[in-house]
Amino acid sequence: MAVAAVAVTGALAAAGCGGGSTGSNDTSEVEVFSWWTGAGEADGLAAMKADFEKRNPGTKFTNAAIAGGSGTQAQAVLASRLQNRKPPDSFQGHAGAELLDYIKAGQIEPLDSFYDENRLKAAYPEQLLQQITYQGRIYSVPVNIHRSNVLWYNPGVLKDAGISAPPKSIAEFIADLKAVKAKTKKVPLSLGAQWTADHLLENVLLGDLGTDAYNALWKPGADWGTPAVGKALGDFGEIMGYTTQEAASTDWQGAAKAVVDGRAAFNIMGDWAYGYFTGNAPNGLGKKLDTDFKYAPSPGTDGTYMWLSDSFTLPRNAPHRGGAIAWLKEASSKEGQDLFNPKKGSIPARKDADRTLYKGYLEYAFNEWNKPGVKLAGSFWHGVNASKKQHTDIDTAVGLFLQNKDVAKLQAGLVSAAKNSGQ
Ligand code: GAL
Repeated sequence: MAVAAVAVTGALAAAGCGGGSTGSNDTSEVEVFSWWTGAGEADGLAAMKADFEKRNPGTKFTNAAIAGGSGTQAQAVLASRLQNRKPPDSFQGHAGAELLDYIKAGQIEPLDSFYDENRLKAAYPEQLLQQITYQGRIYSVPVNIHRSNVLWYNPGVLKDAGISAPPKSIAEFIADLKAVKAKTKKVPLSLGAQWTADHLLENVLLGDLGTDAYNALWKPGADWGTPAVGKALGDFGEIMGYTTQEAASTDWQGAAKAVVDGRAAFNIMGDWAYGYFTGNAPNGLGKKLDTDFKYAPSPGTDGTYMWLSDSFTLPRNAPHRGGAIAWLKEASSKEGQDLFNPKKGSIPARKDADRTLYKGYLEYAFNEWNKPGVKLAGSFWHGVNASKKQHTDIDTAVGLFLQNKDVAKLQAGLVSAAKNSGQ
């Protein structure tokens, strides 16, 4: 985290943007923009919305969520709205490097007085505050902490393949994928839309390189051309050979569902999958941990929390600034976070949440995040340590790899993505 924090703070310091409140204080409405339309995430948002409406009876809540896992569609729509100076009143953005692009473009307001009025500085972990701070000013309100490095698996399929415990290293993982393929008719590793391959890539890099070397990849001037990165990408290529892509239209949910339905052995996905698996029907799948599915740290990453955080912003010239402030108050409150996160499959960003609400996998996540000496790595795909430019360039290189399966070309693409990252 320190590494990522230094990189982000350094880049923020170079940007030189000012503050000042803009927009009207209109509280008649609030348009909240996110990409939470699926089971679990939409349910979490609905729970916060209901609490918001109870507390703010005069403010109409407009849910402007746009479908598409990891914001693939929503972020494009948002970029054009911001460009055309038609911002929503508040939008979802990831803590870390992703926020930088909005700050550099002067698209969001600092929230220092909001933090002071609501005594928020003491409520959040210091290392998280660093990821949303630029030149001493704070720019967003984190609502949760997600874990990216989770391996979800079907215990029955592993048993059929003769696998007694989940893999602890990338080498063991590859051996297990091979066993599933040889001994069962099931998909070894399910994959969804293209971005889920990017998500897999960050997990393979972390698992193969280790936390320090993974974090070093996001420092300015990092070298992606090393044999160690080449080896990890070779492993990524081999692992991709055991994947079956669900229809892209079913996004990450289709791939995650394949595991709990017993069609696939493994899926690597963030813990929003937990909200989807365990949420009540008809939206959620109503599945049971340990019976229908199990979890483990993604191979080679035990002891490291590859984290990301969803946060909400105050766009410059928000049409209903008063409504936006009321929403930020909800999203930053202990009550709001404790309503949202158990459904979302994440743990609260605040330090004072009610631990007893976090059961099953979420109890594990809670304990891991708070474990003394836990190592932290930032999820590049979910905004922590890659600029939007680098993020897009990596996605392009991965997209080409899906076509040509050429590991050397993938590495060359990632080397140039890092060189041109603008960080
Ligand atoms: C992440 C986001 C999560 C979840 C996930 C799947 O980028 O931080 O909250 O929505 O995408 O869409």
